[in-house]
Order: sequence, then structure tokens, then C-alpha cells
Amino acid sequence: MSPETNHDLVARLAARLGPAGLLTAESDVAPYAVDWRRLFPGRPACVARPASTGEVAEVVRLCREAGAAIVPQGGNTGLAGGAAPDRSGTQVVLSLGRMAAIRAVDPVGLTLTAEAGCVLRTAQDAAAAVNRVLPISFAAEGSAMVGGVVATNAGGLNVVRHGMTRANVLGLEVVLADGSVVAGLRALRKDNAGYDWKQLFVGSEGTLGVITAAVLRLSARPRHVATALLAVPDPEAALRLFTLAQDELGEAIQAFELISGLSLALVARHGGPRNPLGPSPWYVLVEAASSLPALREAAEAVLGAALEQGDAQDGVLAESGQQAAGLWALREGITEAEAKEGRGVKHDVSVPIAAIPAFLAAADRALADKLPGARPNAFGHMGDGNIHYNVLATADQAGEAVNAVVHDVVEAFGGSISAEHGIGQYRAAELVRRRTPEEIALARRIKAALDPEGLLNPGKVLPL
Ligand code: FAD
Ligand code: MLT
Ligand code: ZN
Repeated sequence: MSPETNHDLVARLAARLGPAGLLTAESDVAPYAVDWRRLFPGRPACVARPASTGEVAEVVRLCREAGAAIVPQGGNTGLAGGAAPDRSGTQVVLSLGRMAAIRAVDPVGLTLTAEAGCVLRTAQDAAAAVNRVLPISFAAEGSAMVGGVVATNAGGLNVVRHGMTRANVLGLEVVLADGSVVAGLRALRKDNAGYDWKQLFVGSEGTLGVITAAVLRLSARPRHVATALLAVPDPEAALRLFTLAQDELGEAIQAFELISGLSLALVARHGGPRNPLGPSPWYVLVEAASSLPALREAAEAVLGAALEQGDAQDGVLAESGQQAAGLWALREGITEAEAKEGRGVKHDVSVPIAAIPAFLAAADRALADKLPGARPNAFGHMGDGNIHYNVLATADQAGEAVNAVVHDVVEAFGGSISAEHGIGQYRAAELVRRRTPEEIALARRIKAALDPEGLLNPGKVLPL
């Protein structure tokens, strides 16, 4: 796009959106120009902040006329660089932050309809206000927005019980690349009429359409919650605990997280909360919830059995909601602590749950062999087979080299290079290497069908 077209487009967007709807000054644009990890600094032509679906459609149409690429953005907490513009100075960041309304909450039908810019925690609070739960939860929920959560198919802490975001999306409203609006905000539990097109947009990371609103599934709010932190000797013991918890607590398990000792040491070093247990190579944070009164007794029995069989060496069962929140603060502090620690190379991998101990051992061996000095720090959603096998690399170890070592091991275990964070630009080249040519060709056909001019978030998910 020439500088003149660029200039004209900005003028047209300004005329259509008004002063509150368009940012152009460098200092105003700066927070939208770089991703949360600050790995992909960009330079957008401007930031468009439409306040309605009609305005989103108009922005898309104006950008299309000018041949300008659009980078949809929600809370900008993504960990794959998907919401950051490139450095060309021609891309338009389309921020959904002004479309933040909750359009409806239905405690009987168990649904909540929110606009894309609604912060996840605000949506959770609206569900809690009618004694229901919006069961999508993770450390960035105070900033991530509904549109971003849907566009990344976010996972998080409750997937073991409630599934990924995909399982909790009942309807979507989407603006397509040609500016047309597809209205599918049906609040139905069952809807088998034709192709389930909304699922194409879940996890599409802004490359197929702009999500403007979503109908999300709510759950009943369990009366009792049992949250425990256990110190465990190794991942094998953690796996045995997962089976024990499944046998004894069944569908009540809503989180099962594995945490390395190094993770909690980093949390402590960077000002995080106090770990109530002593040092341990590994920990498990497990949470079960039910409205049946026997939950606490059952949880105590599981903790007792774990200690007796030596799979846990110590453990604490939270006595109050406040104590439970303290345990969660330890877990949710890991990402920030790692960021403060320095050069982390992230991996968001999944393998079959039962293979996690063998995967961890093999990945540690491969790193020690090929990249001596690199320190693995593994934690994550063990109950979903999803480990954040992050590596604190030395200054001379290139991120791509670390990725290759870890992803080779993942591949050997039949795993995935992204369980929940998505591909964005961080993993786009790796995706092409790790998926079959047929899968990539199919993805490109879907992209071409929905965005023939390639204007929606180019270079994300699929490399240019
Ligand atoms: P953004 O970062 O703004 O965008 C993410 C992607 O979605 C981009 O490709 C963007 O173009 C696209 N997009 C955004 N909005 C729209 C829209 N309206 N229409 C179309 N495309 C859009 N993720 C997990 O899955 N599980 C976790 O446990 C987890 N923990 C995290 C912890 C921390 C501390 C942090 C910082 C992040 C974590 N994340 C986690 C990653 C991130 O929070 C999620 O991916 C989240 O869903 C992103 O939402 P967002 O609104 O910030 O999206
Ligand atoms: C989490 O589960 O806390 C994040 O998804 C992990 C990460 O920061 O790698
Ligand atoms: Zn995670």
C-alpha cells in the first residue's frame, strides 16, 4: 500500500469512527503495537476502535477497498504474537475493546451472550451474579477478551472438566473479510442444522473473520469446592494421583495441574505468594467441585491415600475460599515470574496424558545432550496432557534451535506443538514443518475461501 493510500484510509476511518474510534499518535498506538511478551514489536498504520458490529463491518470494508491488512486484537494477552501488526506501517489494528457489552445472561438456559471486547473476568462475574459459572479460566482472565478467547480457542485451568473454549461456544456473530455480517448468535444447546460454521472461527486467530459477539455455555455453580496442593516426588507419582483422583472424585475434578519445583522457586523469587509446603521437585494442584455435600470427605480421603501410598510427601487442602485463592495465585504467578526471570523459550505442547512422565524425561535428556546449559521449566495442565515445557535458554542458544529439540521429542510421542496458545507468528514456520502437506494445503484452501485477498491477519497461523 502506498503512503498516499495509507493516508487516505486513515482519513476515511477517522471520518467514520470519530476521535474515540481511531488512534494514530505513536504514544496512543504503542500498547497495541507489540505482543504481551514483547517478542514481536510492530508499527501499525493506526488502531481502529469500532463501537458496534456495523462499525466493524465498515472498517473491514474500508480496509479492503484500500488493500490494507487487518490485525484483530482483543486484550493482547496472546502468547503467540497473533495480535501484533508487522513493521510495515500499513496494517490496521482492529481493537474490539469498545465492544464490551454483555447482551444477555440466561441462568435457566445456561448461556451468556457477550460482545467480543468484554473482558473474560467481567463475563465470569456476570455469570456468578446469577449463581452460574462461565467455566473458562486462566491467569490472564482479567485482561483477555471474549473475542480473543474464542479466536484462540483458549484452554486454561478447567479444561479437564469443561473442555476447551470450543466446547463452550454455542453461537457467534462474525464479520467476514468482505465486510458482510454473519449473525449466528443462537443460544441453543443443540443445533445440527447444516455445517457448524462457527467452529471454523474458533481458534482461527483472526485469520478467517472478525468475531464481534459470542454465546457462551454456562454451568451450574457447585456448592462445594475442594482445592489441594500436594508435594510429589516425580511426574510418575503425579500420574498415579491423577488416576486416583479420577477413580475417587470422577467428574468432580475440575483442574489437575503439574508444577515443577523450579516454577514455584521463580514465583517466590519474583515477589509471588508464599508456598505453604516445603521444597519439592514437583507439585500437583488439584481442584474438585460438586454440589453434593460428600465432596470434602472424598477429597480428604484422596489426600490421605496419596500420602499413605507415598505418591505425595506433603499436602494441604484449602480450608477456605481465600486459602484456595492463595494456592491458585502460586500457579497463576508462574508465567509472570518466568517473564521476569529472563529469556524463556516457550513450548505449549500436548502428548497423551499417560505419556507425560516419559515425555518429560525424554525432553530433559534431549536438551541436556543437544543444548547443555538450557534449563527446562515444566508446568501445566496435566489433566489435559498439556505441558508448558518452557526453557530458560543461555544467551547463545537460538529460540528456533530450542524449539526444534523440544518439538522433535513431542513428535516422537505423537503430540502437538500447540495445545492451547495457538500458532500466531511464533509457531507459523514450525506448523508447516510439523503437519502433513495435505493438512497445510487444506488449511490454505479454507483461508482462500474465506479471505481470498489475504487481508485478515496475514502471516499468522499460515506463513506468507
Ligand atoms: P489477543 O491477544 O488480543 O489476540 C489473540 C489472537 O486472537 C490474535 O491472533 C488476534 O488477532 C485474534 N483475535 C483477538 N480478538 C479477535 C476477534 N474479536 N476476532 C477475531 N480474532 C481475534 N492461554 C490459554 O489458552 N491457557 C492459559 O492457561 C493461558 N494462560 C495465560 C497466562 C498469562 C499470564 C498470559 C499473559 C496469557 C495466557 N494465555 C493462556 C494466553 C492468552 O491469554 C489467551 O490466548 C487469550 O485467549 C487471548 O485473549 P486476548 O483477548 O488477549 O486475545
Ligand atoms: C499457563 O497455563 O499459565 C500459561 O498458559 C502458560 C505459559 O505461560 O506458558
Ligand atoms: Zn496454560
